[in-house]
Order: sequence, then C-alpha cells, then structure tokens
Amino acid sequence: MERAGARRYGEKMLQFYEPEQDHGTPAIRSAESVSLSIDGQIVTVPAGTSVMRAAAQAGVKVPRLCATDSLEPFGSCRVCLVEIDGMKGYPASCTTPVREDMVVHTQTGKLAGLRRNVMELYISDHPLDCLTCPTNGDCELQDTAGELGLREVRYGFDGANHLTADKDTSNPYFTFDASKCIVCSRCVRACEETQGTFALTIQGRGFDSTVSAGQGEAFMDSECVSCGACVKACPTATLTENSIIEHGKPEHSVVTTCAYCGVGCAFRAELKGSTVVRMTPHKDGKANEGHACVKGRFAFGYATHKDRITEPMIRDSIDQPWRAVSWEQAISYTAQRFREIQDKYGRNSIGAISSSRCTNEEVYLVQKLVRAGFGNNNIDTCARVCHSPTGYGLKTTLGESAGTQEFSSVAQTDVVLVMGSNPTEAHPVFGSRLKKRLREGAKLIVIDPRGIELVDAPHVRADYHLAVNPGANVAILNAMAHVIVTEGLHDETFIRERCDSAQFKEWFGFIKDPRHSPDELEVATGVPANTLRAAARLFATGGNAAIYYGLGVTEHSQGSTAVMGIANLAMLTGNVGREGVGVNPMRGQNNVQGSCDMGSFPHELPGYRHLSDASTRQLFEREWNVELDPEPGMRIPNMFDSAIDGDFRGLYCQGEDVAQSDPNTQHIQAALSALDCLVVQDIFLNETAKYAHVFLPGSSFLEKNGTFTNAERRISPVRKVMPAMGGKEDWEVTQDLANAMGCPMNYTHPSQIMDEIARLTPTFHGVSYEKLDELGSIQWPCNAQHPDGTPTMHVDEFVRGKGFFALTEYVATDERANRRFPLLLTTGRILSQYNVGAQTRRTENSAWHPEDILEIHPHDAEERGVVEGDWVGIQSRVGNTVLRACISERVRPGVVYTTFHHPLSGANVITTDNSDWATNCPEYKVTAVQVNRVSEPSTWQARQQQFDRRQQELLDSALPE
Ligand code: SF4
Ligand code: SF4
Ligand code: SF4
Ligand code: FES
Repeated sequence: MERAGARRYGEKMLQFYEPEQDHGTPAIRSAESVSLSIDGQIVTVPAGTSVMRAAAQAGVKVPRLCATDSLEPFGSCRVCLVEIDGMKGYPASCTTPVREDMVVHTQTGKLAGLRRNVMELYISDHPLDCLTCPTNGDCELQDTAGELGLREVRYGFDGANHLTADKDTSNPYFTFDASKCIVCSRCVRACEETQGTFALTIQGRGFDSTVSAGQGEAFMDSECVSCGACVKACPTATLTENSIIEHGKPEHSVVTTCAYCGVGCAFRAELKGSTVVRMTPHKDGKANEGHACVKGRFAFGYATHKDRITEPMIRDSIDQPWRAVSWEQAISYTAQRFREIQDKYGRNSIGAISSSRCTNEEVYLVQKLVRAGFGNNNIDTCARVCHSPTGYGLKTTLGESAGTQEFSSVAQTDVVLVMGSNPTEAHPVFGSRLKKRLREGAKLIVIDPRGIELVDAPHVRADYHLAVNPGANVAILNAMAHVIVTEGLHDETFIRERCDSAQFKEWFGFIKDPRHSPDELEVATGVPANTLRAAARLFATGGNAAIYYGLGVTEHSQGSTAVMGIANLAMLTGNVGREGVGVNPMRGQNNVQGSCDMGSFPHELPGYRHLSDASTRQLFEREWNVELDPEPGMRIPNMFDSAIDGDFRGLYCQGEDVAQSDPNTQHIQAALSALDCLVVQDIFLNETAKYAHVFLPGSSFLEKNGTFTNAERRISPVRKVMPAMGGKEDWEVTQDLANAMGCPMNYTHPSQIMDEIARLTPTFHGVSYEKLDELGSIQWPCNAQHPDGTPTMHVDEFVRGKGFFALTEYVATDERANRRFPLLLTTGRILSQYNVGAQTRRTENSAWHPEDILEIHPHDAEERGVVEGDWVGIQSRVGNTVLRACISERVRPGVVYTTFHHPLSGANVITTDNSDWATNCPEYKVTAVQVNRVSEPSTWQARQQQFDRRQQELLDSALPE
C-alpha cells in the first residue's frame, strides 16, 4: 500500500518501507453481496468472504498468525477468535464466512484473554532474541504479541521446546531457522497453493510437529525450486532471506518489473540507501499477483557483480588491449568510424541489433537511430531468433502480432494445450498458475518431444503427452485439425460469424484431405493415431480450450506455419475472444513483445506498420524530420552473411549476445571478426564483446527508468532504484551516439520517449507514464477505444476483420537423422539459468545448474557405451562440442536434449543455420547429430578457451587513455 509521505523521485514512487497490506484471507469473487455488522460498523462484502477479511475492509484488524490473504484459510493458530451473536463459542474469523445481518465483535475482554493465552503458549517456545533477530521490526509474531498487549508468559521457558533446533543454511538465498517456527503451515501451504511444488510437509504430531523439506532433507536436497513463496509467507524469522540476515530490514522500496522472462513479474525492490537488500514479489502485480521464481526473486546480485564494466573502452582491432576512455571519446570514436565506413562502403554498410532485454524506450531509440541517423533500415532484434514466426503467423491469421489473453485467463480454462513450451522452467510464475488450474481439474495436452515437468508433476498429470518427433509440429497440428473437421467437432457458428468464409472453405477442403489424417502422419509425427485423435477430441469438446506455445513451435523451418496452424485450431473450435481461451505465445525474454512492438524489424515501423505504407512513413518523417528509406533493411542473418562477404562493416549491438545465442557459432564468429567496427553496449564483456572495437557500459534494469512489455502485452514500469554504474542509462548512450551522428535527439527523460511512441503508434495512443503510475500496468491496445488497455483481444471481431485460415502444408525439414547423424538434438531452458546465462551465471543460481548437460535416453546411451556423467562428443553437420551426459527417460530414443546457458558448452556450435521460411528464425530445435564417448574438449572448445583467455588478458590490461 502506498503510504502518506511517499515522496516523488523522478518517475519512481519511493516508498518508506512498510509490509504490504494483508487482508488475512483471499478476496472472493461473487455477484452476491452480504452486509453485516463488525464492532458496530456495517460492511458489505461479496458472499463467501471471511469474517476476518470483512473486518479488514471495515478497517478492523483481527489478530492472526496462520492466515494471510495469499493462501486459503487454515484455522490452526486460534489467535483470530471473535464473538458472533447467536453463535456458540469463539469461532475463528479466518475460516468463518460472513452471513447476512451477522453481528460480529472482535474486541471484547474475553477475546483479549483467550488470544493472550494462545500467544503465551507460542512465546513460551520462541527465542526471546528480538533485538538481535534479523526480522526485528518486520515480524508478525512480534507485532501480534504487541497488538495483544502481551506482558508476561506464565508458562515460563523451561519446559520442552524447540529452541535448540538446527538451522538449515543449505539454500544459498534463504535460511531456515527451525527454532523460531510456530508451525503455522503458511510455508507448507505457500509451496502447495502458490508454487505447486509440494516440497514441504509438517512432520510429526502435536508438540513434536516440525516443518520439513522433503523427507527430512536439507532444502537444497529436496524438491524445492527456491521460488521464495514460503519465505514470503512466513510470519516469523524462521524462513528469512540471507540478504536480510546480512543487511537488516529495508528502509524504502520501489515498485519495478523483473528483467528476466516474459512473465514480467512486478517486484518491490527493497533498499537500504541505494543497495537492494531484497526483491519482494508485488501483490498488486497483475502478471504475478505476489509470486516469483528463483531468478527474479533472488538472482539480482549480477547487477553489482565485480565483472561489471563501467567505463567505456575502445580499441582499433580485437587483438589489441582495450583502452578505457571517457564517454565523449567513445561516442565520437564510434560516430567517426561509422561515418567513415558509410562514406567508403555506402549507407547500407552499417546497422544495429536491439535487445529484448532493454526497455521499450531504449529499443525505440535504437531503431530511430538506424532509420533516421544511419539512413537505412538495417535494424533487427533478437526476437528474430525466437518469436519472429509468432509475429508473422498471428498477424496473418488474427491480424495482430501478439498473444490474445492475460495470464489470469487460464483460471477459466478447461483444456490447456501446451506445445513446445516448458512453463515450469522457462515461465515459472505462469507455470504455477497453470498447475493450480490443473489441480482444480482442467485437462492438459502436452505436445513436446520431451517429457517436460507438466507431463507428470506433483498432483498434475497430462491427460495426453504427444511426444512429437522434432520437426513435425505442423503435421501434428494438421492431424488434430483433420480429426476435428472430419468428426464435425468444429464450431460452425463461430467460423461463420467471425472468419473469412471463402478462405475457410478452401482450408476446409485442404485439411479434410486424407493426407492429413493421424494415420497417414503417424510415422512423421511419431504419435499413435488413436492418441492423437483422443487429444483432438478433448481439445474440441472439453470446454474453454487455450493454447500456450513457445520456442518449440517457432524455432523450426516451419515455425510460422506452425503458429498459423495453432491459430487455425483456436478459430476452428471457437476458442478466441473471451477469457479462458486463446493463443498465447510464451515470450522468452522480458521484453520480446516490446522489442517487436517498437519497430525493431527491418520491414516494420513501431506498431507493426510496414515501411512500404507511405502514410505511416510520412508520420515518422514529420516527427523525425528526415526522409525514410522505404526499402526494408537486413535481418540479422543477412547482416552476418553480408559481413562475411565484406559488404556489411559496422554493427551497433545493444544488450544482445549474438556470439552465444545465435545458431552456427563459427559462422557468427567469422562474421563478427570480419566487421571493421563492432560496438557492443552491455553490462558485461559478453561473448560478442570479445570481437568488439568499442564497448559502451550498459545499465541494468535497476539503474534506469523505462517500460517492459510482457507476453500478455502488458506494459509495466521499470523504475530506477540505484544510479547507473557507468554514469549513463542506456537510452542516454543511444541519444549521444545519435547526436554525434547528426541525428538530433533531446530527450531528458524516458517518459518523453514514451510520449513520442504514443503519438506515433495507434495501439499506444493512450499510454503514458502518468497512466502507468495510476494503473500499475497497461495491456495494449490502449487508446480512445480502450482507455485502460485490452486484457482480451479479438473479442467481437479479429483485428484483421475476419479470421484467416491459412493453408499449412506440412513440409519435413531438410535436417533429418541418417546413418551418419542418427539422433535429433533439441534445445531448451532450465529454471535457474536465463538465456545465455550472462546474468544468472554471475549469481548463486549456478548452484543448481553449473554446466549444460546432454540428456540422452538409456537405450541410446547403452548403444554407445555412455554412462551417467561421461563426457560425450556431439557432432552435427556444422560443428562439434563436448558435454557431460545425463541418462534420462525424459527424452525418447533417438532424441537428445541440451540447454545453452554456458558459453563453453557450445550448443550453438552444432545448431545449423536452417531457418523458418517466412522469418529466418533459426531451426534451433532440430539438429541431426551423432553422440560418442570422448575424453577431451572439442577442438572448438579448446580454441575458444584460448581465445577467452587472450581476451581476458586484453581486458585486464585495459589502459586509461
Ligand atoms: S517456517 Fe514460518 S511459515 Fe512455516 S510453519 Fe514455521 S513459522 Fe509458519
Ligand atoms: S522456496 Fe518455493 S519451492 Fe522451495 S519450499 Fe519454499 S515455496 Fe516450496
Ligand atoms: S517468472 Fe519470469 S518475470 Fe517472474 S520472477 Fe521469474 S524470471 Fe522474473
Ligand atoms: S488466523 Fe485464524 S486460526 Fe490462525
């Protein structure tokens, strides 16, 4: 809650630290309301609300220990007793629902005595070390004792107690001090209800009950995924963040947005001075509603890691030591080199790559610099290599390059189809929401070559796991649509009213063809026809059906086709345009949606408007006072090919590590080495920066103002909580470079950049920092028609008018297994690491995933004499690397799997540069490989290690100019 006295600081609201307001039990959604009297006040609440929450609404706090409004009431502590006229005894207010005309008394002498008695029992088994306790002043037990006026403990402290219980310090981020536990079960319930991991139990009975991770294991050895939900729920110092133990209670807080994944969780950055001591998930954050995962919650230490480079550096060639220079020198050096290149090789010889980790405002400025300053359209973004097929596929079919729902919509879903996405690892907070809905009874279909956690998680089991062959997504989607159509399960009314009928007719004839039947495609998909039929029937007839998909759909040679197949399936069954349904691309990085929205593709201006549209161009030309080139520029792969050919010579790469993240690493390295001037703006000397001539220090999300847009199209504020370590926020650096290149920019705050975006982009017309402060976040479109944003899209009609059923012919990828390369490698993410790992590898998260490993099925391993932990060489058509083997039945025979979080793993040394036919998104998910036992690193790894050492020396010897 905002508190009077909060002071305005730039665009951020700096709050004096205060715990978030807690109403004791969750809010109830009910159309019916009930009025009752609480201590003489009449209050009206939704039917089903607890007496405790109704009292809170009337401004009356009933003491409590086991209740908190993020969890279902439990009724164990008996501190919240009340008196209710006509009811016997002293009911617990947390578990008693309100009734019409109920008369409740919360403050009577009798109640005070009873409550004090309960508290005395608790305190008689609690250390009296408040003054030295890390949560002194931020402890509900302490507060409740104070509220109840506890002055003595009649039971003494000499009886049986838990005061000498051991501490569990196994988790790097929090400590479990069992001596302070009051066994309220809030932690256990948080792990079950909020996180869905079920890692905690109460062991023993009565007085001997204790909280236990797993079967009496240390937290690190248990199923715990370190989400922190139990720590947040704990009312005492039993579960406490190590950062709080080290630094003490925060002094103030700022609400901001996580900079890791596309869920876009809101956090309170809690500070002492300008040191962040805790990131607490924000209850009012609509994407996360108070929950978080191990990355956003705990892995923020990278922001102040010793590897941060905070001074600009330049060098003439990559075998020279870096020279530390002033910002002015670095900027003028860059501008001069870029101008020289353009003078010599032409206007199109330079370009830029923007980042999905940077803010909307930063991304917007980079594309503006390219179009208005470089005078070309050679701007692309890392979404090229992840969700560009989503842009193409959804724009073609539905008319807008974005997901259709908000995350909370899943609570209304009856059948969830998860395809090529691993929410519990890659989008964990959404994964928890999803698991909750599945525990409530929603059905689940998983289409994935690998047995992801959702296939068989605690209290969650997929009804159908279609373990599709890598590369056969379009075949499986077509087969599902074929079943629905031939069995007459499609929604004729929806199709007639909402979709292009001529196109549907053509598509109907196409999909009905027996070549799309599950039997015909069984060999291609690897899925038994009957299983596929059953899954299709469930999808079409099971009620509200929603599709959540990820890079396992897009990163294929037919990525765009598969996205269109998904949209077809949703339209075919009438599952678009209301809550609980829809097409939901799970965006990997925090601002993938935003970086695409902001005009980062070479053919599109902000708001997905094609450059060829003269009226849109004129709009920008007037605002920017330049003439724009109407020809689309180069995509990232074209930039690299052109660099190798010698035509493309200069690249400004902001916040993106292409040398690690893009496919066919050796090709990328060759391209980067060929550049005359590579400018990298980042917080660390990443893999790409090792090939750079100019390094411009970047700022982390804690050091700047701006906005991110998550997978729900939700624009959320990013607020500066500490000064930029390099002295400049990223947008300021781009602005300086633009000015040095003769492209005037004079913003004094990112809010002005957003104002410009809003002026020029119809879907953003209503967005401003003031509105973001007021609403907390906004889902675009936000304009005159939707002044507060748009949670659900395509409600009455599709953005393109009529829904378009695209023909989705299945074409097998060229990348096939054969005798030389008999296995198919597919790649993915893991919970504790993020993308190329530049941030998470510099945190304690590496305790969970210190290296990338190769998952291989026991049969394939046995055939090759590979045992758990062996080094194995992985050879593809383009390269080879060496990883440790993990024998796992998560993958089926013939398929191997790895992650790509560690640079020396070289997962992308083996991925090829095959790509999606429409967007050039690389086919990361299918690489034919051979795997053998080996005893030493690959030649590439050995060479890379040597190169890394050399670059580190050149960095260490950085000289002040
Ligand atoms: S650890 Fe905390 S939340 Fe869990 S039972 Fe003990 S006091 Fe309650
Ligand atoms: S940190 Fe999360 S997963 Fe681990 S025990 Fe607590 S709630 Fe469960
Ligand atoms: S789920 Fe994503 S946005 Fe939320 S805390 Fe984790 S990494 Fe951050
Ligand atoms: S708060 Fe109601 S019984 Fe614990």
